[in-house]
Amino acid sequence: MASFASAGILCLALVACLHAGDAFCHFGTLPGGWIKSQEGSPFPLYSEDGGTFPTWQPYSQDCQLKPLLGPYLQAAAKPEDDLLSGHQPMHMLLFGDSVDYRIARHLCNISKHQEILEPFGSNPIGQEHNMTGICSTSKLVVAKQHISSASLEGPYWWKMNFSPLESITEGLKAFQDSEGVVPDIVSIATNYWDIAALFEAGGFKFEGTPLEHQVLPEVWLKDWTRNLTTILSYLKDSVPDNTLLVYHTAHLPQQVDKPNKWESDRYLYPHIAQMNAAGRHVAQMLHYHILDTEAMALQLPKESMMADITHPGAGFMMQVLNMMLNMRKEQQEAPAEGQGVKWQRQRIIGRGWFKG
Ligand SMILES: *[C@@H]1O[C@H](CO)[C@@H](O)[C@H](O)[C@H]1NC(C)=O
Ligand SMILES: *[C@@H]1O[C@H](CO)[C@@H](O)[C@H](O)[C@H]1NC(C)=O
Ligand SMILES: *[C@@H]1O[C@H](CO)[C@@H](O)[C@H](O)[C@H]1NC(C)=O
Repeated sequence: MASFASAGILCLALVACLHAGDAFCHFGTLPGGWIKSQEGSPFPLYSEDGGTFPTWQPYSQDCQLKPLLGPYLQAAAKPEDDLLSGHQPMHMLLFGDSVDYRIARHLCNISKHQEILEPFGSNPIGQEHNMTGICSTSKLVVAKQHISSASLEGPYWWKMNFSPLESITEGLKAFQDSEGVVPDIVSIATNYWDIAALFEAGGFKFEGTPLEHQVLPEVWLKDWTRNLTTILSYLKDSVPDNTLLVYHTAHLPQQVDKPNKWESDRYLYPHIAQMNAAGRHVAQMLHYHILDTEAMALQLPKESMMADITHPGAGFMMQVLNMMLNMRKEQQEAPAEGQGVKWQRQRIIGRGWFKG
């Protein structure tokens, strides 16, 4: 009786709290913008021309991102270094394409102390690179594993010959074999290699593939959505309940006019935007945190943001990592088990707690 009563009170309090609308910050989808000042910057990251890379901040004053990445990048390996004292080691696994590969690799290039536990292949796309690198810095480990596309059976881009479900199983296993723990944060993304696979299967042409249409054929997009639902559900079922699950969208690359480049798709932006929208939908249904890099990238000129036609530079990538650390912190500070309610299979999401 007593426990019913206390659970009831907690629920009422929680409902009131959620009703107020400010219980949790939806960092990854909150409207925001880039700020120039170094104030609040995750770390002073200097661009080639000597300026600092801007920092992404939500406009909401109640939901400001904290510069959590800074200490991880600046800390040395020595025990007497107290920058990270009191910090728990943080483990991250990124399932995605060459963008995610560069997130992990940039981290290793930038941080003051780092160790490459699993080599980054020289070519971020290639069938032989399943686990494409593990970067370990002081108390922060970031690993990258390919997701060949949202297709369950292929054909895949660049002769990749493994399905996303295999990648998830193998990636989690490889991570645990290497680190001895389950990752605290797992992110997943797919978009470019879906376009690239269609382009390649079409003989490096868009005509005759779903990409010849400005609006992707409804049947194709539904199939893609169904496949992504299978993949994200599988990943969710493969990690413990307290692992933070993140889906990130894809930014718009530079459109080019070069044969053999999927970025020469004349409907590049509509295609990327449509898959991002379908991806956000699936992620939301499955209660993943959404990190909308599409929206973040739209506000920056490509000349300053991109390292080449396809990939953002280090500054952008580090903002993405910093946001994931903020999402994790918020999850850890949220009410948890031991407060009278067993939050079985519940995770914190943008809209609060959910079951399932
Ligand atoms: C990281 O450093 C290596 C070695 O200096 C370099 O080849 C690579 O381009 C750098 N950046 C990324 C994102 O790989
Ligand atoms: C890549 O994954 C496949 C299938 O899981 C596995 O058989 C193969 O050994 C892996 N290759 C490498 C280089 O890890
Ligand atoms: C979805 O997966 C099925 C089964 O592997 C595959 O035949 C189909 O091409 C995929 N569709 C998309 C749009 O990826």
